[in-house]
Amino acid sequence: MSPSRIPRHVAIIMDGNGRWARQRGLPRIKGHEAGAESVRAVLRAARESGVKYLTLYAFSSENWVRPPAEVQGLMRLLRKFLREEEDELHANRVRLRAIGRLRDLPPPVRRELKRVMRATESYAARQLILALSYGGRVEIVDAVRSIARKVSEGDLQPGRIQEKTIRAHLYAPDVPDPDLMIRTSGELRLSNFLLWQLSYAELYFTDVLWPDFREEHFRAALEEYARRERRFGDIGAGR
Ligand code: FPP
Repeated sequence: MSPSRIPRHVAIIMDGNGRWARQRGLPRIKGHEAGAESVRAVLRAARESGVKYLTLYAFSSENWVRPPAEVQGLMRLLRKFLREEEDELHANRVRLRAIGRLRDLPPPVRRELKRVMRATESYAARQLILALSYGGRVEIVDAVRSIARKVSEGDLQPGRIQEKTIRAHLYAPDVPDPDLMIRTSGELRLSNFLLWQLSYAELYFTDVLWPDFREEHFRAALEEYARRERRFGDIGAGR
């Protein structure tokens, strides 16, 4: 694949863990556990393909209403993943980041997350970004609040607010917008994921359930991306 056709940033809605478990007569948490294996596989595939930024929707701001046992199970899984994956992140010089209302996370998860983020913050070549307690509208609300604060303190004039002002107040302002968004399990929705950042992304939907999603599925999505022509409002190459 020509390097220019490799997406710099891929964002993924990892959906279908519950259905995968139900199909096997297993508790939902088993689907999430299998989903964590898919995360490892996709991390490898992204690295091998030359994708620089990978954002994973690991827990949405709406997921808190799930049964407490499932929420606790997911939090436990997240901590386990952070502990077990740290060596791998160092070995491959991957910087871990997180976006979302991280203060909502249980303190032990937040501590582990902050520790690994700090330990990997000097790596520049590749980034893994976990969306945790994340909602796209809430991210915009948080941005608007900090902009409003600057306006009320006299540090910013309303007439000077531009698109780039909003971008600068998002959770990870330096991260380029995703080029490709993948959603698994056949659902055709954005579900409040990266609403600002996905404006021009190519969208790729697959029926594969997240726990079944492996390297070959990720590569198939990149191949489809490479075939698409992105115009950004222009009229295309054949004019
Ligand atoms: C959606 O499936 C998935 C989630 C809400 C959680 C995603 C979490 C993981 C993949 C595992 C842990 C993550 C990391 C980063 C280690 P669903 O439960 O909504 O599935 P359903 O729609 O079939 O019920």
